[in-house]
Amino acid sequence: MKDSVAAHYTHGQLLDRILSGVQAIGKTPDTVTVDELAPVDEFHIGGRQASEDFISQLELSADDHTLDIGCGIGGTSRFVASRFGCRVTGIDLTPEFVATGQSLCEWVGLSGQIELHQGDATAMPFADESFDAAFMLHVGMNIPDKSGLFAEAYRLLKPGALFGVYDVMQTSDEALTYPVPWSSVPGTSALATQGQYTEALEQAGFDIVRTRDRREFAAAFFEETRQRMEKAGGAPPLGVHIAMGESAPVKISNMVENIAAGRVAPVEIIATK
Ligand SMILES: C[S@@+](CC[C@H](N)C(=O)[O-])C[C@H]1O[C@@H](n2cnc3c(N)ncnc32)[C@H](O)[C@@H]1O
Repeated sequence: MKDSVAAHYTHGQLLDRILSGVQAIGKTPDTVTVDELAPVDEFHIGGRQASEDFISQLELSADDHTLDIGCGIGGTSRFVASRFGCRVTGIDLTPEFVATGQSLCEWVGLSGQIELHQGDATAMPFADESFDAAFMLHVGMNIPDKSGLFAEAYRLLKPGALFGVYDVMQTSDEALTYPVPWSSVPGTSALATQGQYTEALEQAGFDIVRTRDRREFAAAFFEETRQRMEKAGGAPPLGVHIAMGESAPVKISNMVENIAAGRVAPVEIIATK
């Protein structure tokens, strides 16, 4: 499954496409900012706003070393490093995403604060109790072994550390319409219910601090995005559609439909070790 998941996300020309978008907004790799990259590099429902709402619950400070599990091209890592001043280590399965993310960190001058590694979230090459906080945005939908994933997060965190999960979770038994942004076919999707997530987290040793259903936030975000695109006459030069490739419009419309039909919803879970 891992190879198929990485193949699903592999674009082929992602950095070039982002560079074209950056040039289209009148910027260069030397002048573009973390905030200007946010529309293209925060690959989850609600983009930067969702990251702000979610990450603000992790009580981060400048001395923290944080872990971004399934970091993608590192948008949330750069947001956390620039907003809170902390060190960030990210890990992601898809080699092209990691390489693209490393280039984007260089563009915005954050390579000294952020390290991005290629690897599997269920077997991470880091020492026990080496992180002060960890977060994971829209990653568990591709990982069937939630117990292995959360056992790894638990091993890597210091006692008392917070762990945030923001994933799309299953909310009915009705089949999804594919493709969706995280999977083109049912075989690479590993959805679970909120109950299954909290059970796997608790089995790993975590205590649940709070949970929040983001369905209404998502619906408002999709509506705002639709209105903005209608007004602008199309997609912006920098947007998450770039990472999703040619089939972005159908993946996005299926996700909106699946959420509206009550089959899935984005949910936050904050847990502590
Ligand atoms: C929808 S993207 C989200 C990326 C990033 N968290 C963000 O919000 O911008 C899902 C990411 O999970 C990564 N992923 C999927 N399975 C993984 C695994 N077993 N280990 C590490 N990363 C994985 C994919 O490569 C992809 O980059």
